[in-house]
Parts: sequence; C-alpha cells; structure tokens
Amino acid sequence: MDPLTLETAALSADGRALNILDQTLLPGEVRYLSLTETDEIVEAIRALRVRGAPAIGVAAAYGLYLAALGLETEDRDEFLSSLREAADTLNASRPTAVNLSWALARMLGAAEGHRALPVAELKALLRREADAIREEDIAISRAIGRFGLGLLRPGDGILTHCNAGTLATAKYGTALAPIYAALEAGWTDLRVYCDETRPLLQGARLTAFELQSAGVDTTLICDNMASATMAKGKVDIVLVGCDRVCANGDFANKIGTSGVAILARHYGIPFYVCAPSSTIDMGLARGEEIPIEERPPEEVTELWYAHRMAPEGVKVDNPAFDVTDHTLVTGFITEKGIAYPPFDKAFRAFGF
Ligand code: MRU
Repeated sequence: MDPLTLETAALSADGRALNILDQTLLPGEVRYLSLTETDEIVEAIRALRVRGAPAIGVAAAYGLYLAALGLETEDRDEFLSSLREAADTLNASRPTAVNLSWALARMLGAAEGHRALPVAELKALLRREADAIREEDIAISRAIGRFGLGLLRPGDGILTHCNAGTLATAKYGTALAPIYAALEAGWTDLRVYCDETRPLLQGARLTAFELQSAGVDTTLICDNMASATMAKGKVDIVLVGCDRVCANGDFANKIGTSGVAILARHYGIPFYVCAPSSTIDMGLARGEEIPIEERPPEEVTELWYAHRMAPEGVKVDNPAFDVTDHTLVTGFITEKGIAYPPFDKAFRAFGF
C-alpha cells in the first residue's frame, strides 16, 4: 500500500462531512470515519483519531466549515457570533499544537473580513478557505521535503521520534517528507530508526507503518534505545516534527523529543526540526510560555497492555509534549528554506 494515498482529513465528496482516517486503529485496520457534528470532531481530535499538528489544523478548519453549514440563520451578526462559539469549542480540543488556533483564526478572519456578504456566500467562502489550508499544507510539506533532502546523503541513517509523516499532515508529512522526496528521487538505501514513542506509540503504530508500507528500510526501537543506536554510529541525522515553535527557536514536540536532542548533541549528530510556518508562533518569546497538554494516567498504566502494568494508586505524570531548548537545534527546515541560529532573526527574514 502506498501511504501517500491515505487521506488524514478531507471533505467528503458531497461536501457535508469530514472524512478522517481513524489513526487509533492503525496499523491493524484502515477505517475512515465520516463526521458532521462539532462535538464529534472535537472528540476525534482529543482521542487522537486525527492527530499531528498540521492535520489537526486541517480537521479544525473543515470542522468550522461544517459548523457554519449547519447554521440556519440569515442574520450575519448572529451567524458570525455562532461561528465564533463553534471555533472556541474546536479550539478547546487540544492545547499545544498552535496549528489548531492558527487554522481557526484564519477561518474566522476570512469570514469577518467579508462580513458584508450574505450568509450563503460566507459559507462558500469558508469552504474555499478550508480547502486552501489543506492545499497549502500539501505544498508546504513538499517544500520541506525538498529542502530536507538537500541535507541527506544516500545510505544515511535517520532517527525520528513520534509521527510527523503523511498521517500527521494533509500529505507527505514534515519530518518524513525528505524521506518521501528521496524515494521519489530513486534513493533506495536510506535507513530510518523510529522511536516507538511511549505512551501512545505513534512511532511504532504510525511511523513504522507508513515507512514500511512505502518500502523504506525501517527499524523500530524503544525510546530508551536511542542512545545505544547513536553510540553504534547508526544515526547520521535526526529529523523531528514540532507542535509549536517560539520566536527564539524553543519548540514543543512529542514527549521525549528533548531527550533525543540532548543525545544528538552528546554524540555530535545534527538535529533538525521540520517546521511549517503554521507551527511557528512568533507571539511566544520562549518555551516556558507553551501550554503543555496533560493526558490521562491510564495511557501510561493500562493502554496496550493485556492487564494493568502499574500498582493501583501510583502517581503518574503524562505530559503529551516537552520543550526542547533552541540551543540544541541545528536548524529548522521550513517551506521557505532552512533557518539557522539566531532563529528569531532567521524566522523574521523568512517573513514568519
Ligand atoms: O500527540 P500527537 O500524536 O498529535 O503528537 C504529534 C507530534 O508530536 C508531531 O511530531 C507533531 O505534531 C508534528 S506533525 C507534522
């Protein structure tokens, strides 16, 4: 199966539902869900049926369009006020990936910027805006792939954490986009090490599934094997995605990423972050300002196990993301090019 044929979040053919691939069922089952209600879409984002920062943004944009479609009023003020309420509901689904609020703000801005239009035209405009967010995401991932490919050499070993692949975006992914670009260029000898990514196993369930399906030489490692894998000289470069990048280059990504960055620095391995502009939040100065999602303890103690693997009552911490200090980052691969330190200056030069 070609993983690039999988649709993470797209409007149905009749334009009345959001079709998402339920990622909680992968790799065992490829099943699509057809969602129409705001609450269903919130649940899908919260439960990680659709996940990955850019894919969440696309799903939320279509979610807001579908909410608009369901509004029966012809009164523009009433329409815009209900639209803002729906955006707030969608925005509350997950806090860390800035793509969610970015996409919703863009959708609201499009409608409010044309508030003189009749409601029917505002609805059509919202559909075009959501389509544009999706199409642009595909083009951005392609560009990240091209810039990232320039950093790779045939035969390289690449370590990645979590899933920043086609499943996490509208198509191609961010951290996996350079690998898809290499495949297209006829390279057959890249080696990829996927951290399994406890506790939700995005590396084992999603990245390993994607890359193996694409025919890439893929090796799954437990998160605590990264140091040993690097020490053996198997890793030439680390490529990861991100959920929110601050102006100074501090960034949030899946829990465990900061440890990988520290290891890469120790072993002298270049550490690159693949970052679409929709994930760069110039409004936040540094990493401490990023809201970090806390998830239920059962994801650590019970999920995936035949029976509970921790004593009842034990305290559990389950932050979904961590913040990596900008000093550990070699560069950010964006759709405009690769940003090198000082990152705030480089981001501004790219117009972010
Ligand atoms: O909790 P998730 O699976 O949504 O976390 C996803 C990540 O951390 C990804 O690395 C990030 O969103 C980048 S996706 C291109």
